[in-house]
Amino acid sequence: MPQTWHYGLVARWWAEFNEDGPEIAYFRQFVEGDGQPALDVACGTGRLLLPYLRAGLDVDGCDVSADMISLCREKAAREELSPTLLVQAMHELDPPSRYRTIFVCGAFGLGSTREQDRVALRRFYECLEPGGTLVLDHEVPYANATRWRQWPKDARRELPEAWPPLGERRRASDGSEYELRARAVALDPLDQRLTLEMHAELWREGRLVAEEEYELTMCLYLRNELLLLLEQAGFADVTVRGDHTDEEATGDHDFLVFVATKPG
Ligand SMILES: C[S@@+](CC[C@H](N)C(=O)[O-])C[C@H]1O[C@@H](n2cnc3c(N)ncnc32)[C@H](O)[C@@H]1O
Repeated sequence: MPQTWHYGLVARWWAEFNEDGPEIAYFRQFVEGDGQPALDVACGTGRLLLPYLRAGLDVDGCDVSADMISLCREKAAREELSPTLLVQAMHELDPPSRYRTIFVCGAFGLGSTREQDRVALRRFYECLEPGGTLVLDHEVPYANATRWRQWPKDARRELPEAWPPLGERRRASDGSEYELRARAVALDPLDQRLTLEMHAELWREGRLVAEEEYELTMCLYLRNELLLLLEQAGFADVTVRGDHTDEEATGDHDFLVFVATKPG
């Protein structure tokens, strides 16, 4: 199964703190109007899905992490929403419906192998109606200067990194505090695969009450590889936009957004 860190305390962090971002309005424009029904692949705890449902859009969700899906379902139920949510890895996607739009935000390449990613694109193709649209974003491997400098062999010998002494710490709505620390442990330039580790802590009234560690692998893609993979999966009319805007992608954009059509 895909190796991701979106479980336990990390899933709770997502549910508690990850609720906004420019991606919400960006992906929404593809769903509104005749982009429905839509499927949010790797919907996580519903950062995009819940605002869309609130706005009356017809959207289902799926994610490989049962913890993320269960927190998404709880959050939806608090608003008396009951979306169709599936626990499925994207390369095993097998929803009961077909969609006008499938979108993948912040997840393509996470936890999976390159072969699984190739199969996932084919699954997206099969799960779209003819004429339907796939919208998929990917952070380019050179977006993060620290990580990009780790590609040469001398720098790779320095891995694994030491754990950072301090992590990102935030107070949740019930007063408890969550802290996350991440480090790179390996980078394979042939397979274009980065392995990260996450250490998560839960604190109550100044006492550490839980700590967990997870690993996440990421397949790193450049623009032209993804264009070839999309073409191989059967998609046509692929455009590439930059950073969740309508601009054509340039080398200065950190995120590439691929918009692809299943021929009608
Ligand atoms: C960075 S989060 C993004 C969640 C959501 N799309 C958002 O933007 O808020 C990545 C999500 O992808 C899910 N995920 C990672 N690998 C996956 C895979 N191979 N198949 C399906 N979901 C996956 C994780 O469980 C997690 O919920």
